Amino acid sequence: MSKINEISTPPPAHDFSKLEQILNRYPREEASLIMILQDIQDEYRYLPCDVLIETAKALNLPKSTVFSVGTFYKAFSLQPMGRHNIKVCMGTACHVRGAVMVLEAFQRELGLEHTGTTEDLEFTLETVNCVGACGMAPVVVIDEKYHGEVQPDRVKKMIKKGGK
Ligand code: FES
Repeated sequence: MSKINEISTPPPAHDFSKLEQILNRYPREEASLIMILQDIQDEYRYLPCDVLIETAKALNLPKSTVFSVGTFYKAFSLQPMGRHNIKVCMGTACHVRGAVMVLEAFQRELGLEHTGTTEDLEFTLETVNCVGACGMAPVVVIDEKYHGEVQPDRVKKMIKKGGK
């Protein structure tokens, strides 16, 4: 395939039938937008650009409205997210009890330079500032489950178990 063809080929569109099911759950009006975006995030694990454009059309809203809501809330992501979400707490209590080494262990095991999502879309690594469990620092939250007193040598096992 020539370079020009590679560049001009659009990325594959997402399955809009799932979007249709989501849209059918709510009145097609602006007031439904956040709930629809939450369902899209749950279904696709992020807010794909083409799906947002279809959503704007379906709700008869400007694309800018849909994108600005999609970028405003931290719960939404315009980037693909991994099947498992790993949050390493870097708040003060966790920091002084070795959070940097825990974070580095996750980066090493996942092959990530910083934070982000692995190529196989299995894991998204994030850092957060205090998750309210300072007494069990350093803390890692995997798929909403809290893990306390995490040591770097436990990280490999935690990834293997997918946070369970
Ligand atoms: S600083 Fe990590 S839980 Fe509070």
